[in-house]
Amino acid sequence: MEQNRERLSSRLGFILLSAGCAVGLGNVWRFPYVTGQNGGAIFVLVYLFFLAIFGLPIMVMEFSVGRASQRSVATAFNELEPKGTKWHWFRYVAMGGNFILMMFYTTIGGWMLQYLIKIIGGEFEGANTQQVETVFSQMQQEPVGSVFWMVVTTLLGFGICMLGLRKGVEKITKIMMSSLFVIMLVLAVRSFTLPGAMEGLQFYLWPDLNQIQDNWWNIVGAAMGQAFFTLSIGIGSMAIFGSYIGKSRSLMGEACNITLLDTLVALVAGLIIFPACSSFGVDVGSGPKLVFVTLPNIFNSMAGGRIWGALFFLFMTFAALTTIIAVFENIVSFGMDLFHWSRKKSVTINIVVVILLSLPCALGFSLLSGFQPLGAGTSILDLEDFIVSNNLLPIGSLIFLLFCTRKSGWGWENFIEEANQGKGWKFPKWARFYVTWILPILVIFIFLQGYIQMILA
Ligand code: ALA
Repeated sequence: MEQNRERLSSRLGFILLSAGCAVGLGNVWRFPYVTGQNGGAIFVLVYLFFLAIFGLPIMVMEFSVGRASQRSVATAFNELEPKGTKWHWFRYVAMGGNFILMMFYTTIGGWMLQYLIKIIGGEFEGANTQQVETVFSQMQQEPVGSVFWMVVTTLLGFGICMLGLRKGVEKITKIMMSSLFVIMLVLAVRSFTLPGAMEGLQFYLWPDLNQIQDNWWNIVGAAMGQAFFTLSIGIGSMAIFGSYIGKSRSLMGEACNITLLDTLVALVAGLIIFPACSSFGVDVGSGPKLVFVTLPNIFNSMAGGRIWGALFFLFMTFAALTTIIAVFENIVSFGMDLFHWSRKKSVTINIVVVILLSLPCALGFSLLSGFQPLGAGTSILDLEDFIVSNNLLPIGSLIFLLFCTRKSGWGWENFIEEANQGKGWKFPKWARFYVTWILPILVIFIFLQGYIQMILA
């Protein structure tokens, strides 16, 4: 076991850093639009259910693998697998997942930064819903700007990793996360006191059972993808933070705290977006552009809207950046764990790699817009999101489940001992049958249903 591995400075640092990895565009950008496309409240219920039955146990498993191995996912399985087995091959899926996630995340992070500057510059003042939409599409379709801001986002993220684990990653994430919580609550209050807010709230909070008949499998597949995405589980992004902490706390309690924080942010994001949609006549099913066309309208309607808008997009940027920093920390550690590079060398090489890999998505709405991989109107972003959310995260989660429960892997006994070491809530031993048999079958079933529905559509 490695003695001189870096450590986080406090428990709060660990919780906020892991929550920072979880809380991101998945909460403030993806959750509202996927909810909008999948029938509102009924989707939210299924999603919450999946967080509890899938998300939580798998997060505990990721942390356990990280803490027991003291490694990132690049070499964690080598440390824990029985001799002669091939579990460590999973590293390619996991590492690939972290890179592909960042291949589109950096572009959206860049949009957030551009919006921040536009709002500060007053570009949305007096604009109606139509005009706000136009600003968004022009921004997307501008290749030089998209690439430039993607590069800025990448440099910011890696720059913070370069400062080190405690002085950069932990410290900056703590500040960003705390600010994010405060501003979101204020904006939610403003949004649901808007005229016409009730209709949006009803869509969001009152299940419409008619949606189930037409759409059931789409809703289930989307909710599972969102649950995996929002918690960043399945590709080892979380496991690394287990490798940076000691054994004083049990991992179930920590995973609950992180899941609750993540869920709170997503639910509050919905409370901001849906009332505003009904108030300003924005179609809840408008897809990935939803938050970009809804929010400037709220700010236009507020006294001091420019300041609130600037603050909001600053914190959206923070949410994106905390995830980017966390996943970049993984990516940096791959180089350090696998090739024994210094932090500086790993950061430098990965800046070039991530920028090159992010180019297709950044250009996917302009020079490469002819490439519509998932059907008319789709983009490279949709493809990359689909590969990660609907494939790598569920498949990776399945591997963690099997590794932590099968004798041919790390096995239940080792897992439960690691997970339950320390003070706090324990992973229940009665859940063994559930995580060994029922959960893997459920993940496979829903994963396959996603493809069946796609073929039938
Ligand atoms: N968990 C990250 C997010 O929600 C990927 O954005």
